[in-house]
Amino acid sequence: MAFANGSRFRADGQVQDEMANQQEIERLYDWLDRFHDRCLGEFADLSCGYFRGDHGKSLQQAQKDKHDWVLNTLDCGEGARILDIGSGWGAMLRAAELNGASGVGLTLSQAQAAYCKKKRLNVLLMDWKEAQAAQLGVFDGIVSIGAFEHFCSIEEFLAGKQEGIYKRFFQLCADVIKSGRKLFLQTMVWDHRVPDPEECRLTEPTRSTERIVARLTKFYPGSWLPVGKEQIIGAALPQFHLVSSINGRDDYIETLKRWYVAIRGLFGVTKLLPTLKDLLRLAPRYAVDRDFREQIKSIVCKDQLACFERGIMDHERMFFVRR
Ligand SMILES: C[S@@+](CC[C@H](N)C(=O)[O-])C[C@H]1O[C@@H](n2cnc3c(N)ncnc32)[C@H](O)[C@@H]1O
Repeated sequence: MAFANGSRFRADGQVQDEMANQQEIERLYDWLDRFHDRCLGEFADLSCGYFRGDHGKSLQQAQKDKHDWVLNTLDCGEGARILDIGSGWGAMLRAAELNGASGVGLTLSQAQAAYCKKKRLNVLLMDWKEAQAAQLGVFDGIVSIGAFEHFCSIEEFLAGKQEGIYKRFFQLCADVIKSGRKLFLQTMVWDHRVPDPEECRLTEPTRSTERIVARLTKFYPGSWLPVGKEQIIGAALPQFHLVSSINGRDDYIETLKRWYVAIRGLFGVTKLLPTLKDLLRLAPRYAVDRDFREQIKSIVCKDQLACFERGIMDHERMFFVRR
């Protein structure tokens, strides 16, 4: 996990050999937790919904449709047991329970774990890479939604370790899922061209790809995206084969637009006072923490939307079956 000095560098100067660690994950999700329910609602997903061209749908409906689509495709109804790797605020686990299934979630954010515990969802504060198969048990289905993006750091990408990490992930999944059962993976990926991390600097021109990506690496500390869908399919190959996949770029664009509206809603009459209180609590951090300021800027500048619209990032939703 993180070193005491919070850096990715060990005392001997070597790069820490880890994906986004707990401290980095918490640098985003723990402050988002303050606004989560007020902005998006109880048990809301922080990932792309399932619109499929129907923009008349509410965001809540699009998220519910995603849950139904995934749980039905995984055949995880009454009595099934699912594992959610990167379970956030428990949206999918809650949907599984409403379907008569039970679930275990893993998160690296203490705030998310506490939230889920309060709501009586079975969530462990645990890095999947530390997880022991025997400890987790056996599952009828696995989901990992919007978490794969965090599994490889820039340093690991530069050291050529990305594929090895993804293979380890699929090995864990293979060890805990019943044969013939399915895994659902939803993740952002780079589009045609993988940016060069060393060219992505905060000093680049404001709306350049390099500046936007640099800010996003502050928004998602310790994280670097998969090269593309084929890389993921290849890493899964020894134990899983792809049964279907749907591109999610348009759905993510729609989801982001709905989120921006929800964020504006935080400043409406009914929510303004609690929002201002939370912003005041965060003000000291804003004053001293440059990376936190970049996170806020990234939201204000709508960086993620720009990445999808400009073809810097793409988005994939994949069902795999255990051989
Ligand atoms: C964008 S949130 C998505 C949450 C949820 N799946 C959803 O759709 O709302 C990413 C989640 O991945 C989790 N995560 C990232 N890296 C992880 C790791 N190595 N082990 C366990 N959880 C991880 C974070 O803690 C967070 O809960």
